[in-house]
Amino acid sequence: MAQECRAGELIPLDRVGIVRWRGDDPEGAIAVLTDLRSAEGEVNPLLQARRSYRALAPDPIPHETLVRLVEAAHLAPSCFNNQPWRFVIAEGEALERVKAALSGGNYWAKSAPAILALASHRDLDCKLSDGRDYYLFGCGMATGLLMIQATQIGLIAHPIAGYDPLAVKEVLGIPKEYVLITLIVVGKPGDVSTLSGKHRAIELGPRERKPLSAVLAWNKFTDLSQTEGT
Ligand SMILES: Cc1cc2nc3c(=O)[nH]c(=O)nc-3n(C[C@H](O)[C@H](O)[C@H](O)COP(=O)(O)O)c2cc1C
Repeated sequence: MAQECRAGELIPLDRVGIVRWRGDDPEGAIAVLTDLRSAEGEVNPLLQARRSYRALAPDPIPHETLVRLVEAAHLAPSCFNNQPWRFVIAEGEALERVKAALSGGNYWAKSAPAILALASHRDLDCKLSDGRDYYLFGCGMATGLLMIQATQIGLIAHPIAGYDPLAVKEVLGIPKEYVLITLIVVGKPGDVSTLSGKHRAIELGPRERKPLSAVLAWNKFTDLSQTEGT
């Protein structure tokens, strides 16, 4: 039986590449297929495009778009499907008060039209006897999906750790016993000249990563400090 699909959505109907497309422009389907095909064997183009950019335009982001970002995050897998993520979207006066709690190095986030707070508590997710508390892991995965969704719609979603957590929790009414894991600064791309020289260089420079050999081993764990820089 054919699956329902929304306009502009591709639904794979089988594993040999037959898809169903509903939309006004059949060429849209061809463009999406071409993109997917050309990315075959490569890292997903959205993952390649995502960067923690800092130059943000102050243009407001519609509520439904912000909700869509959280919807994407909410599709993340979690231990026992516990869904430990709790988001608070700050706008207006709350946003201004959150901005006042940012650390100095995060001056650039003051032009953001919205900031999402992500909080959780270890009791909201699996706690295994060897110390594996999975709530932070689950929230990290949710954040990853949120960032990819943002990239897809041309938004920047930049997670940060530099803020006064007690002050932000107070502003947003997040219970003391929760961990305020990150703030996710959201906005459209803005003017790079507003950034410090250091940040402008990062913004316009190539993405920096350790070589894959420093983080990937086959069959036997490798002491990363031995391989770093190789
Ligand atoms: C948990 C976490 C905390 C971060 N905190 C900050 C921060 O306080 N300020 C900032 O400018 N960037 C922050 N970042 C962004 C990182 O600097 C950035 O992800 C890293 O340099 C890699 O760059 P990329 O995301 O563009 O690939 C943070 C990222 C993560 C995941």
